[in-house]
Amino acid sequence: MASVKVAVRVRPFNQREKDMGAKLIVQMDGKKTRLLTVKNSKEQNEGGREKYKDFTFDHSYWSYDSDDKHYASQEQVFSDLGLDVIDSAFEGYNACVFAYGQTGSGKTFTMMGSSENQGLIPRICRQLFSRVAAGKESGASYRTEVSYLEIYNERVKDLLGGSGGAGSGGGSSHSLRVREHPQHGPYVQDLSKHLVSDYDDIQECMQRGNQQRTTASTAMNDVSSRSHAIFTVRFVQASYLRHNNMPSETASKVHLVDLAGSERADATGATGQRLVEGAHINKSLVTLGSVISALAECALPHDGRTPKSGKKVFIPYRDSVLTWLLKDSLGGNSKTIMIAAISPADCNYGETLSTLRYANRAKKHHQQAHHQRGPQRQAHPRAARRDRQVARADRASHRPYRDGARRSCHAAA
Ligand SMILES: Nc1ncnc2c1ncn2[C@@H]1O[C@H](COP(=O)(O)OP(=O)(O)O)[C@@H](O)[C@H]1O
Ligand SMILES: [Mg+2]
Repeated sequence: MASVKVAVRVRPFNQREKDMGAKLIVQMDGKKTRLLTVKNSKEQNEGGREKYKDFTFDHSYWSYDSDDKHYASQEQVFSDLGLDVIDSAFEGYNACVFAYGQTGSGKTFTMMGSSENQGLIPRICRQLFSRVAAGKESGASYRTEVSYLEIYNERVKDLLGGSGGAGSGGGSSHSLRVREHPQHGPYVQDLSKHLVSDYDDIQECMQRGNQQRTTASTAMNDVSSRSHAIFTVRFVQASYLRHNNMPSETASKVHLVDLAGSERADATGATGQRLVEGAHINKSLVTLGSVISALAECALPHDGRTPKSGKKVFIPYRDSVLTWLLKDSLGGNSKTIMIAAISPADCNYGETLSTLRYANRAKKHHQQAHHQRGPQRQAHPRAARRDRQVARADRASHRPYRDGARRSCHAAA
């Protein structure tokens, strides 16, 4: 039984906050994050008297001051959370890491980082390939593929398409279609996939995609803060089982997600376009919250029924493109990590509180992780026959084979 991990990370003051003489309203102690209530905040005006609100997470990362001995570095975040993701991938589980928070709170810094101060994505990729190198020495073989996409206004763009990419629907528009495969579930039609064999290959993909995001943002009034970016690594390893020397193959998928800014669209001065965007961004983030909380309701997943009422829990994966595409990493067959990025400043009190509440809701989500290991089909006729029998038995009990996500809480999606 695996549970979702939720971490919070507070960044240093930015220049704007320094210039306005902002007050520090976040404190951390171990796993605890304390948010000091701000005078004249909605909570105080509504009669609340409390001086602070406390939250407990799996990790509370103090990255406010790099000189502080408690400062949480990129390396620490990686060793707590990134190594987990790699372990999952090598064990055949799907994994999903997402960074949530208002624009400017540190999502991209945590996920991608800079060249001097790399974030989770490059560190995960580097570690993945050093484990692959070790595995190859003991006779295993690997196939790794990446794709990188952006969701903007509920439409998908291939960040690695266009020149040199395999995707025909790439280029500069958000025009790819999301479809559903009867066995493999939701996918993006014509999304380019890139076979990578070492860290340099994957780094090239990362940089090319990031470049696409930045260029488009400059041209279009910062699209990147209002779009979700999903970097996906598909990973297949083939080896021989130690106890009986049977060929075995495990497949896993890791989604690394830099979410759009969670701030509410500013009604004043918003153009029609911005309002539409706001509605779409909110829709994805609200749906993501609902999906996670619905999954929490079926904490003991057997067939998607809650233990108490016996009622089927409806999980609204389909309500947004984001959750639809992440479906296989949010259900039973996966490990999920959420990092909530927050500002330390009093002027962001409202957004910080809403981020902490969102993260708190995710925390209650527990899920059962299933293995995706299966004997390699063609490699051994007897294994293949047994495989087919298992598949038939599974179908008979309405549980699609090799898809743990569907087995547990997929419900009526
Ligand atoms: N933990 C951190 N330590 C140091 N600087 C940070 C940290 N988090 C964010 N920053 C800085 O704050 C700014 C905004 O962060 P960014 O990651 O771009 O925000 P977001 O992606 O949430 O909009 C960037 O200049 C970034 O370098
Ligand atoms: Mg960003």
